Amino acid sequence: MSAWKKHEVFEKNSFILLIGILVMVAIGGLVEIAPLFYLKSTIEKTEGMRPYTPLELAGRNIYIREGCYLCHSQMVRPMRDEMERYGHFSLAAESMYDHPFQWGSKRTGPDLARVGGKYSDDWHVEHLKDPRALVPASIMPGYPFLAENRLDTRDIGAHLSVNTVVGVPYTEEQIANAASDIIGQAKPDTEAADGFEERWPNATIRDFDGNPREVTEMDALVAYLQVLGTMVDFSIYDDKANAR
Ligand code: HEC
Repeated sequence: MSAWKKHEVFEKNSFILLIGILVMVAIGGLVEIAPLFYLKSTIEKTEGMRPYTPLELAGRNIYIREGCYLCHSQMVRPMRDEMERYGHFSLAAESMYDHPFQWGSKRTGPDLARVGGKYSDDWHVEHLKDPRALVPASIMPGYPFLAENRLDTRDIGAHLSVNTVVGVPYTEEQIANAASDIIGQAKPDTEAADGFEERWPNATIRDFDGNPREVTEMDALVAYLQVLGTMVDFSIYDDKANAR
């Protein structure tokens, strides 16, 4: 039987053809995916990445709850127009503590991977309450209720703890004190803030929503937005900066 004749088996039986396709796709997939697990270049070495603080993590949960990712991506692609607008392209290490990652696939609004520090806290609070007050042509919905909702801190320890299952290196101390630290980061000059500073030396403590009376969902979301893209120092990667 010639090779062509043997091939007829695939052509005449759709089930065998299906099995054949699956085998070929699996081989192709392995060839593409397997090297990513041992090539060192897959994840660039970076310094400065740290897990989100309890307040930032709570903000991230609100970001997901409100569906911000439906209009905003968090990934700068390695293309010139994107890099001129947003900065250095995203590194894999930047989302190493994101479970699930927020790369997104749709940009109705701008990419937010590097939005941290771009605006003041006040700007974010006003913009989230009423986007059109600051950007008249904006089609982003307003989220004024975030400033009124007191932040629910009861389950934050569990959120940290579950992240450790997928490899985020939260310490037992950070998990045990999560409920106090979530308040401490937004309330400077309190005892909770002192404890926070010890456990989170690289994070900022301030009243993110400008309302010192209570810690709101707005505090958490703004804390999250303000830390996006700020952990890795990109000046060492930036060719332009090196050339200067
Ligand atoms: C319906 C789509 C849509 C949704 C949902 C949405 N946004 Fe936006 N967002 C936009 C658009 C469009 C802009 C650009 C105009 C503006 O600045 O308001 C924008 C701008 C922004 C900016 C300013 C970015 C910059 O670099 O200037 C931030 C920050 C932001 N959005 C955060 C959020 C957050 C947080 C949420 C969820 C609570 C959210 N957005 C939900 C559409 C959306």
